[in-house]
Amino acid sequence: MPRPTVRLLDDVRPDETDHEFLPGMSRGWLMPWYDVVARFRRLGRLYRRTVEVAGVGAGQHVLDVGCGTGNLGVQVLRTAPGVVLTGLDPDGDSLRRAAPKLRRRATAPVTLVRGFAHRLPVPDASQDHVVSSLALHHVPLAEKELLARELARVLRPGGLVTVADFAGDHAAGHGHGSAGHGSGHHRPGRHQPGHGPGSRTHDADNADGGIERLLTAAGLVDARAVERMPLLGDQVVLVQARRPSSPAVDVGVTGTD
Ligand SMILES: C[S@@+](CC[C@H](N)C(=O)[O-])C[C@H]1O[C@@H](n2cnc3c(N)ncnc32)[C@H](O)[C@@H]1O
Repeated sequence: MPRPTVRLLDDVRPDETDHEFLPGMSRGWLMPWYDVVARFRRLGRLYRRTVEVAGVGAGQHVLDVGCGTGNLGVQVLRTAPGVVLTGLDPDGDSLRRAAPKLRRRATAPVTLVRGFAHRLPVPDASQDHVVSSLALHHVPLAEKELLARELARVLRPGGLVTVADFAGDHAAGHGHGSAGHGSGHHRPGRHQPGHGPGSRTHDADNADGGIERLLTAAGLVDARAVERMPLLGDQVVLVQARRPSSPAVDVGVTGTD
């Protein structure tokens, strides 16, 4: 049987061509090393847990925001057959690296879209799951707020968003410097040494329930930190929230759903 297609699309609008973003390894030319570093840093466990917590099922529609070289998407495709996967990332080089990896595992069409988290390239109420790993701290707060509204738009009623990102509170007492992300107690938008000159990370936005607040403000419900795990001398938090099944049910008017 022929392998399902992997399409590469460009959804960057003319007014977005100058829109800056922070690539996975801070500098585009380091990107070929991303998967080597990811393996060395044992990120596989994070990808596995994120997909387990999401609970992706056979034939479901899944969007991976900030998909990079497709490692989380590979785990999604390993977990359940027939998943219709869309990956979104502004870094075309990463998407081209993701494509063959995803093609090998796909049992349904995969679409990789060059674009930004503030505008998700899928129709209203079309996704059973949105997942994201280690991408939110690359996105400024104003764009994350737009992303959260987009999540509420693209998830089907009852659909889940599952996000893994640095907790931002540096509970371990030191930063994730050796990962190329600088050292602890970051302020939003501050230069992080390991991210190269002029680069900014936004992990401090996540501190003290920042991801949960972001999702709740956009109308998602039951936002909660499901678990934390140590990573790269820091902490990653896995946060999950749900699009309400129906407004009446979720404000408790008619009981539980
Ligand atoms: C550390 S990498 C994580 C990649 C992948 N999710 C993983 O876990 O291996 C962060 C990713 O976020 C992407 N990114 C940066 N700014 C973004 C934005 N505004 N919208 C969507 N993705 C963005 C980068 O291009 C990069 O691929």
